[in-house]
Amino acid sequence: MSSNAKLIIDDKEYLLPIVVGSEGEKAIDITQLRNQTGFITLDSGYMNTGATRSAVTYLDGEQGILRYRGIPIEQLAEHSTFVETSYLLIYGELPNKQQLQHFSQLLSNHSMIHEDMKHFFDGYPASAHPMAILSSMVNTLSTYYPESVKVFENIEVQSTRLLSKLRTIAAFSYKKSIGRPIMYPLNHLTYCANFLHMMYAIPSEPYEVDPDMVKALNLLLILHADHEQNCSTSTVRLCGSSLPNLYTTISAGISALWGPLHGGANQEVIEMLQQIHTSDMNCKEFVEKGKDKKSNIRLMGFGHRVYKNYDPRAKILKKMTGVILNKKGVNDPLLDIAQELEEAALSDPYFIERKLYPNVDFYSGILYKAMGIPINMFTVMFAIGRLPGWIAHWKEMMEDPDRKIGRPRQIYTGYTERPYVPIDKRQ
Ligand code: CMC
Repeated sequence: MSSNAKLIIDDKEYLLPIVVGSEGEKAIDITQLRNQTGFITLDSGYMNTGATRSAVTYLDGEQGILRYRGIPIEQLAEHSTFVETSYLLIYGELPNKQQLQHFSQLLSNHSMIHEDMKHFFDGYPASAHPMAILSSMVNTLSTYYPESVKVFENIEVQSTRLLSKLRTIAAFSYKKSIGRPIMYPLNHLTYCANFLHMMYAIPSEPYEVDPDMVKALNLLLILHADHEQNCSTSTVRLCGSSLPNLYTTISAGISALWGPLHGGANQEVIEMLQQIHTSDMNCKEFVEKGKDKKSNIRLMGFGHRVYKNYDPRAKILKKMTGVILNKKGVNDPLLDIAQELEEAALSDPYFIERKLYPNVDFYSGILYKAMGIPINMFTVMFAIGRLPGWIAHWKEMMEDPDRKIGRPRQIYTGYTERPYVPIDKRQ
């Protein structure tokens, strides 16, 4: 293949370099386009824009392939833990025993939050959404660690501190929402077991962490850990490119994740399944509504900007959901509805033509529900899972010698120049 693309504007020819990634993905480098031609590119929703070169995650949406640092998600889901996968994403390699021990030790060292920070939880109304608390509290961390403004220093400490504290903040916000005393972390427990302890233990009774729940949580967090340049990760990169501290940068990512078209979809999926369950509508009828543009209803947990095939994460989660429900002896009617809805949608020409398949959020909610995680905490769980990915992309950007502040251009469509009109002369 030629190493340049030819662009012809008004009979003038321009050569634009072609860039090829390690999996053969092709791009036209337009960095010099405006300088050379006066033109910019226009790509609403960044459907076709490569914002960076990245070595973190490979995703092929047509084939349903997802690999972190080259390793297939299926293998990580089966063999790894969330902590090990976090290390892999952030540092680029699987850790050896010593490296894993050191990383785990750092996570344990940073598990507490400053005692004064606990007062902030009292200031939120009981109805506060935990995602709002999470993004505010993560930004608040920067007030306790003012040295974090030196963004190029102590990246390891900053990252592990945040990875550990996000879990504590999430569990504390849950305890606050149900009016129960917070439980401090127990550092002899593993990352996921410690989270379950902070969520479900109470001071007046012993609490045994269920190993099946630990396994399911590790799986859920691994599957959410990265997904290349999605909305929240792109937000982290864009916000981080002006060089605010890591906590503020990640707080922006958490806010972007909250929306129902992104991480907020897992909460919406359960609400949708409950709506079908309590209404007299069947799944086929609901699918009809999802197709009707006037109804403003979408099938939550269906469709994806990049997957035009079954989301590999949804496949793994569907299997695990069945296993956990079986083990717990739970017969959740929402799982039956989910399966029925999936069948109805996948056999419908509207969904077939548009290649709309279940995404990661379709089954994660049912699994979280089976684990006793309240619905409004689902997106918080997504944020805990996605954090190592955000950090990996932030670190990659900070270490990139060609790093630039993110600043897209636009095509202006407003008024051309016109004079200011004094108020008594306006219509
Ligand atoms: N239900 C019904 N129709 C849909 C759906 C859906 N869930 N998703 C897409 N469509 C239709 C859409 O109406 C459009 O139809 P038409 O071509 O006739 O106008 C076509 O499919 C293409 O959709 P789009 O909105 O242009 O696609 P997008 O790439 O901009 O949006 C999406 C991707 C994920 C926002 C969208 O599929 C959606 O809203 N899904 C439901 C929300 C959801 O489950 N989000 C979680 C995504 S996975 C977790 C994550 O990574 O964040």
